[in-house]
Amino acid sequence: MAILLAGGAGFIGSHAAVEFLNAGYDVIIADNFSNSDSGVIDRIKTITGIDAICHAVNVASYSELDKVFSQYEISDVVHFAGYKAVGESVQKPLLYYRNNLDTTLTLLEVMSKYGVKRIVFSSSATVYGTPIKIPLTENDPVGSCTNPYGKTKYFIEQILTDAADADPNMSVVLLRYFNPIGAHESGIIGELANNIPNNLMPYITQTAAGIHEKLNIYGNDYPTSDGTGVRDYIHVMDLAKGHVAAVKYLDVHTGTEVFNLGTGTGYSVLEIVDAFEKVTGIHIPYKIMPRRPGDIAECYACIEKAERVLGWKSEKSIDDMCRDAWRWQQHYDGTEKHAR
Ligand code: UFG
Repeated sequence: MAILLAGGAGFIGSHAAVEFLNAGYDVIIADNFSNSDSGVIDRIKTITGIDAICHAVNVASYSELDKVFSQYEISDVVHFAGYKAVGESVQKPLLYYRNNLDTTLTLLEVMSKYGVKRIVFSSSATVYGTPIKIPLTENDPVGSCTNPYGKTKYFIEQILTDAADADPNMSVVLLRYFNPIGAHESGIIGELANNIPNNLMPYITQTAAGIHEKLNIYGNDYPTSDGTGVRDYIHVMDLAKGHVAAVKYLDVHTGTEVFNLGTGTGYSVLEIVDAFEKVTGIHIPYKIMPRRPGDIAECYACIEKAERVLGWKSEKSIDDMCRDAWRWQQHYDGTEKHAR
């Protein structure tokens, strides 16, 4: 039996592929490389010594996906196939709704044809919108997302929940990621950031590499310890291990279950800059800018449920995250395709 990683060549998917291969799973990646680099498949082999089977298909295409399912005994699906840039989703909402919902619906239809009942979905803490209290628990209200990207995550959670409600044998796990950063400790795989990254850590590593003159810090007047925004940053390899735990859990439950994947600890932007400078010895010049529209002051996870039910807990520190993100930035030779 094999596990299908839909969108498995992307940032989270490629790191999850390494963990699944290391845990002894037969891994099949389905990805059209629209937002990833096909060279990642060889790099996954360099790390694990194992071949991951990869099919360059569009997960939203029924006929292309059907061909993949017809060739293997697939028991479980992990669904990473979606666009993820918040700002772009505001500019191009239809692109986001079409792609992220189509990949999900097609996956569910083809799974149904082949009697595959188990799926883990890459959701996001963005479904909580502006938190009414922190830490965020899985029972907190969802759906008040401020951008189309976040809404697709919320809608897909609803679609998967309805599918599981309609089929008593179906098993769905929704994983709400907090802020995944870092890279595999080898520096061989990592995040393909834009030339002007949207997210904090790639902007810091690119500033350290001299690509940008300085980091823009969006707001220092939030009601937080130092005025800058606080987030729950989680090492991508810890997150990857959370997927292995989630797939094991698919075996022992039916219905829909939701888990926060975070560390449970919040760090401010200035704390991340300090940690990065300490670990790398590189000074990061910065400038305080106005708040970024749509940003919230503070967000971190209650992680009790994932630990209690999945037996999973993050292990890596903020220093590990900074060190590994920087190692990847240094390995990143620019020949990899940049994200869309
Ligand atoms: N920040 C800066 N400068 C930058 C980039 C970010 O100061 O150049 C600040 C932000 O204002 C925020 C913090 O760094 O306070 C983190 O920002 P990110 O853009 O790295 O992450 P977000 O929390 O905004 O969003 C991330 C993902 C979303 C996901 C969300 C879930 O990008 O996809 O976490 O909570 F939905």
